[in-house]
Amino acid sequence: MLVVHSIKEVKDAVSAWRKEGLTVGLVPTMGYLHEGHASLVKKSSDENDRVVVSVFVNPIQFGPNEDYDKYPRDIESDSKLVEAAGGNLIFNPLNEEMYAPDFSSFVDTAGVTEGLCGAKRPGHFRGVCTVVTKLFNIVCPDRAYFGEKDAQQLAVIKRIVRDLNIPVEIRPCPIIREQDGLAKSSRNTYLNDRERKAALVLSRSLNKAHNAIEKGERNSDKLKAVITEEILNEPLAKIDYVEISDSLSLKPVDSIKKSVLVAIAVYIGKTRLIDNFTFEIK
Ligand code: PAF
Repeated sequence: MLVVHSIKEVKDAVSAWRKEGLTVGLVPTMGYLHEGHASLVKKSSDENDRVVVSVFVNPIQFGPNEDYDKYPRDIESDSKLVEAAGGNLIFNPLNEEMYAPDFSSFVDTAGVTEGLCGAKRPGHFRGVCTVVTKLFNIVCPDRAYFGEKDAQQLAVIKRIVRDLNIPVEIRPCPIIREQDGLAKSSRNTYLNDRERKAALVLSRSLNKAHNAIEKGERNSDKLKAVITEEILNEPLAKIDYVEISDSLSLKPVDSIKKSVLVAIAVYIGKTRLIDNFTFEIK
């Protein structure tokens, strides 16, 4: 397994594979990889002859008061995880390789970026769309793999791929959880022991809402109240948003009629965590 830092090295490797008629999967990441990422790499390796994993903490998707500087980084441990999961190449560029000093072109989409995390993190999805489009152009993969934990990101990427006719198949991958239910995230490493326990309120509150839907509750306000009440019982938690949206348009819905995304963002201490589930009425 190779770790390369330049766009040229990635292009050379991919073009050699293409000459052999091999298919290529891409797993875009910001590194500090965990089992959730490993599941994306494994799926990509099952479905493609070769797998490229990008490890790049993308500065332009972080707001001025966000955690860009302290975002965890560990390329050695990332390399081991990628190799064990079946990856073939890590692309780990420096900022200068991705962004020229006078970089001034961006990819963005309206609608799906407006609510949820988009409303709370202005410019975030513009940064994500831009870097992911650049990675698509650099690697030219057949398929690209994204986790359902970042449900809005997944919807946004699907939208730009459709709208801009980007020739790549987007493959969603299910949320991977710790045994106690906490969704795996590189940001979980920010939590101290007390916060780690408190963070269980995310999955617990979503489970309560899920059970209520299964029992027949269809009213969004009532379901949001179930989630909110559970979170408010946890002193270390502060709600950023609790929302129930149409799972395609991501527009908020008053009642559940077809497929909905139930999504939350919660601060545990200073750490902002997200979690969600999708529910489809048959
Ligand atoms: O989900 C992430 O880790 C990032 O948003 C992504 C898709 C790698 C773009 O920087």
